[in-house]
Amino acid sequence: MIIGHRGVAALAPENTLSGIRKAAECGLNWVEIDTQLSADGVPVIFHDDTVDRCTDGEGKLGAFNVSALKNLDAGSWFDKAHTNESVPTLEETLSFCVDEGMSINLEIKVYRDAQVAPLVDAVSAVLASSAFPAEKLLISSFSKDALLRCKAAIPQCRFGFIADKRNISDLHAFDDVGLYSVHVDHRMLTPELAKEIKGKGYILNIWTLNESEKADAFIAMGVDNIITDDPTLFIPKQPEDARCQRPSVRSVQGKFL
Ligand code: G3P
Ligand code: MG
Repeated sequence: MIIGHRGVAALAPENTLSGIRKAAECGLNWVEIDTQLSADGVPVIFHDDTVDRCTDGEGKLGAFNVSALKNLDAGSWFDKAHTNESVPTLEETLSFCVDEGMSINLEIKVYRDAQVAPLVDAVSAVLASSAFPAEKLLISSFSKDALLRCKAAIPQCRFGFIADKRNISDLHAFDDVGLYSVHVDHRMLTPELAKEIKGKGYILNIWTLNESEKADAFIAMGVDNIITDDPTLFIPKQPEDARCQRPSVRSVQGKFL
């Protein structure tokens, strides 16, 4: 199965509602999005530590109150056609995804250890007060502390550990509590690691694969889901369907982290 990365980052401004809608138009059921806290403690959907790359503002995301974030233009950096795009809150994104029929892989994005407790507590509170169905949600993080705290707060949710070369040794921390999935940087996945993860009974996801010719080899290793910026590389195009064409992908190549 294909999961859109940051919405569908190659086709629409990342981590925006129009990106999620574009994913739905491409026939996807799942999007991966990132959440962090505004200065006034509201979980918002945003990837970077600063607003510099993906808005017309400057400075740390966490220094902006949500009202100030809402005044930023989060779309025109990608394409002028998205000029009025704003940074969505988690709450409005959950509601939007219910309307769009989309499921969410919500990454708890931690840049500093001190962010873990306030972010997880705020995210857990929003999720607990939301009617968003648990079966349409998968919470993930590179931070084992964030996952373990979140798992304690909302045990009914499914959890995925995001692994790269820096933190793969933390995988054993979940041996007692269990996980739903492990999300591995595709550049480091080997048949041995895939076997270890599948042997623990976990779903195996990879990120961020934008080379469709490599998909079969990963599937042969046991990969269950591929997280990609551009699902059109993996899904046969409907020639008569213009909604899923790539508007300006050349102009934004190289801007993804
Ligand atoms: O969730 C997988 C992937 O999104 C992790 O990397 O930096 O794009 O959040 P990043
Ligand atoms: Mg992410």
